[in-house]
Amino acid sequence: MGRKTQWTHKHLIGLSDLTREEIELILDTAKSFEEFSTRSIKKAPTLRGKVVVNMFFEDSTRTRNSFTLAASRLSADVIEFTKTSSSVSKGETLIDTARNLEAMGVDIVVIRHSAGGAPKLLSRSINACVVNAGDGYHEHPTQGLLDVYTIRQMRGSLEGLKIGIVGDIAHSRVARSDVYAMTKLGAQVTLIGPPTLMPASVCDLPVKVSYNLDAVIEELDVINMLRIQFERLGGNPFPSVREYSHFFGLTMDRMQRAKKDILVMHPGPINRGLEIESEVADGPNSVILRQVANGLAVRMAVLFLVTQASTLEG
Ligand code: NCD
Repeated sequence: MGRKTQWTHKHLIGLSDLTREEIELILDTAKSFEEFSTRSIKKAPTLRGKVVVNMFFEDSTRTRNSFTLAASRLSADVIEFTKTSSSVSKGETLIDTARNLEAMGVDIVVIRHSAGGAPKLLSRSINACVVNAGDGYHEHPTQGLLDVYTIRQMRGSLEGLKIGIVGDIAHSRVARSDVYAMTKLGAQVTLIGPPTLMPASVCDLPVKVSYNLDAVIEELDVINMLRIQFERLGGNPFPSVREYSHFFGLTMDRMQRAKKDILVMHPGPINRGLEIESEVADGPNSVILRQVANGLAVRMAVLFLVTQASTLEG
């Protein structure tokens, strides 16, 4: 039987709006791009003649480079935009900057911004496709997609899996996108962390909440350790970093109590010794570098699908 789902979105703002079928379509498209990385010539002409701009208003290593590489593997031209070396530092607004880039023929704007809602605003103001590379505490859809892609690759399916997301949930856009993607694909998600790092909106999410990692670690099939977003913390959410590590860090000792085949994930950047011990991050259960590798295939799929939807629309 042929696939019925059609991709119709010219923007990717978040995963909360997508159906299970649409998420699966992205994952299946990414699968077909995965073999690219094994070829000696890692290029396809899919986006030849298209222009992608990477507008990053926040620091990034993985996500920015992954989008750049994904676009260039599809033969698009890529413009790298940074806040400090652009006219934004002279007071130009986000929309004006984007409109000017659009006047140069940009087809896809990949945007990371500290303000939740910035990609949505942009999508209403310009004709180009907009892809959210992380906005404030809101969503980080390609991270959510690469996380579920990695779990599906390792386990075949997410149906019935018990997944723990640990740490600074309140300031994490990754946690939100993960929850939407994982639960839509059939997993049961528990958010784990100190009460001070749980968002007030947690009761609106289809998840369980635990304030005690030791009480739940034994039942988890997958554990995703988040970074403490120190740059976003206002006050002191916990007495000390050592205390946080003691209660919520993924240590070798805790790993002894986890399932033998538990998948250990982290979106990066890792704070070794804080949320995760080096031995665990580099150990046999860790799929952290696999997540990074899969990010490329997922972003190629997203760039391809939004371009296709915009062509159909136009
Ligand atoms: C995340 C981000 O920027 O939201 N990192 C990433 O994209 N790989 C998480 C983080 O910064 O901790």
